[in-house]
Amino acid sequence: MLSELYVTGIKLARPIEAGNYLQDLPVVRHLQTMDELPIAKPVTFFIGENGVGKSTLIEAIAVSMGFNPEGGTINFNFATRNSHSDLFRYLTVCKGVRHQKDGFFLRAESFYNVATNIDQMDAEPSFDPPVISYYGGVSLHKQSHGESFMKLVEKRFGGNGLYILDEPEAALSPSRLLQLICHMDDLVKRRSQFIISTHSPVLMAFPGAEVFELSESGIASVPYQETEHFRIIRQFLNAPDKMLKYLLEK
Ligand SMILES: Nc1ncnc2c1ncn2[C@@H]1O[C@H](COP(=O)(O)OP(=O)(O)O)[C@@H](O)[C@H]1O
Ligand SMILES: [Mg+2]
Repeated sequence: MLSELYVTGIKLARPIEAGNYLQDLPVVRHLQTMDELPIAKPVTFFIGENGVGKSTLIEAIAVSMGFNPEGGTINFNFATRNSHSDLFRYLTVCKGVRHQKDGFFLRAESFYNVATNIDQMDAEPSFDPPVISYYGGVSLHKQSHGESFMKLVEKRFGGNGLYILDEPEAALSPSRLLQLICHMDDLVKRRSQFIISTHSPVLMAFPGAEVFELSESGIASVPYQETEHFRIIRQFLNAPDKMLKYLLEK
């Protein structure tokens, strides 16, 4: 069956030289032992402890798919600092038969730079409509992080797209997070694909999504209910006082 997806798998094309810190990342070591990690669902989550390599991995996928490593659409080509890893040089992204018509790479720590870049582009004389008109018309700097992020999803994500998001929940209130899930569902129905790193047990419950947990032992596909994120938050919400007492007791 031909895949409807834009990204259908990832694999390491060549070995990483000794001494490169990427060698120490369990996710990279695991990719070295397998032929290909198949990406088979329209929504794929990468989860795991801080520092396990989620951002490194999704950034390498984004760069391999033609995105600016600092985030934005394929058309953004600003660079403020060469802060991305060179994993993309070793990674092969297996592509589906269709090419995406839309796309966005949201890098958690550089959304600010995307907002600045839009303002700068619009400050230059042009016969085209201002770039910000595609993002709801109000400078992303003049809105809260959560507001501007939701504007981005509502106004700029157009369907038939590949959206790669690094911890999108960071900006969002719980109700906005549920709103994001509704937008994602709509976009998936309009032939979109999402690759997301997250710590949110709510987001990772997206119906039909695949959750890859990165850990010291590599990469494993897990049901979201079995992830540590989900279990810890459920345990906490079931009995916050009890858990805090246990945690804080000397
Ligand atoms: N230039 C670098 N040199 C050495 N180690 C690095 C470099 N960049 C990132 N790392 C390490 O790579 C690991 C993975 O980082 P990252 O992908 O950002 O983790 P995550 O997104 O899962 O929290 C971290 O432990 C980080 O310290
Ligand atoms: Mg990260």
